[in-house]
Amino acid sequence: MYNKKDLLGLKDLSKNELEYILQTTEEMEKSIELKDNKYKLYADYSVMSMFYENSTRTKLSFVTACNNLGINCIDMNVSTSSVNKGESLIDTLENIEAMNTDLLIVRHSMTGTQHIMAQNSNMGIINAGDGTNEHPTQALLDMATIRKYKKNIDGLKVAIVGDILHSRVARSNAYGLTTLGANVTFGGASTLVSEDMKCLGVRVTNDITEAITDADVIMGLRVQNERQKTSNFPSNSEYNKFFGIHKDMLKYAKEDAIIMHPGPVNRGVEMDIDVIEHNQSVILPQVTMGVYVRMAVIKILLDNRK
Ligand code: CP
Repeated sequence: MYNKKDLLGLKDLSKNELEYILQTTEEMEKSIELKDNKYKLYADYSVMSMFYENSTRTKLSFVTACNNLGINCIDMNVSTSSVNKGESLIDTLENIEAMNTDLLIVRHSMTGTQHIMAQNSNMGIINAGDGTNEHPTQALLDMATIRKYKKNIDGLKVAIVGDILHSRVARSNAYGLTTLGANVTFGGASTLVSEDMKCLGVRVTNDITEAITDADVIMGLRVQNERQKTSNFPSNSEYNKFFGIHKDMLKYAKEDAIIMHPGPVNRGVEMDIDVIEHNQSVILPQVTMGVYVRMAVIKILLDNRK
């Protein structure tokens, strides 16, 4: 079961809670495939979203998930909102709650913003990414995709390769995957992957080939140019040469390894195009799974409000 009001991160979720969300995701997937409208029961609930950072996948899949549950999700377009007149975060929150909103989906550039919101509101808060901290629904959809292709996460070797330093996806995946028994390795340039990340229960290496050797899952991560305060590597072409994932490296991974990326992808930077488009790539199936995971999370949090 998952009895909490909010979904803020995977750091403190138990194995049972993670498995409950993943099982509910599988129910959502079946229902959508059967087109049975079995879960289109939530029209009486109000869900809103606020994205202080750009998004394509997360925002649209939350909207699609709401549609599939019979909910008309309303987005507060941050760039045209009264945030730009100086309204505070808590005042914004209180005004949204005053409209009888049940759930609020939030992406924000500052770590911990959604935790502050959850402490100051009776609404359920879903973290759609907070700074470099966590992106729980992305990691849940990654885990659901791994389960779909590999059946069981326990004992799998998962290589997460790229700009780990700025990655909330890497952090949420480290928490969730290790709780479910996977062996996770972080691989990347020494400016983007460091020894102190071992506190997340992962192995760390600056050798990309070593990271993906014997991997069941290879997850590439985007170079987050917008978060780089200093230059962490000389150029994109040199980054690709020394730290990118190339097709000829795949022979070191398990023969049936799947290739993942949360998107958006910098083609030819962190991953070569023939890796992105490889027949073992599940990058677009991850996006499809995002709808089912977000349906599951919204359904669970709304059921908890009954
Ligand atoms: N993976 C992900 O969070 O993508 P968006 O930034 O497009 O939502």
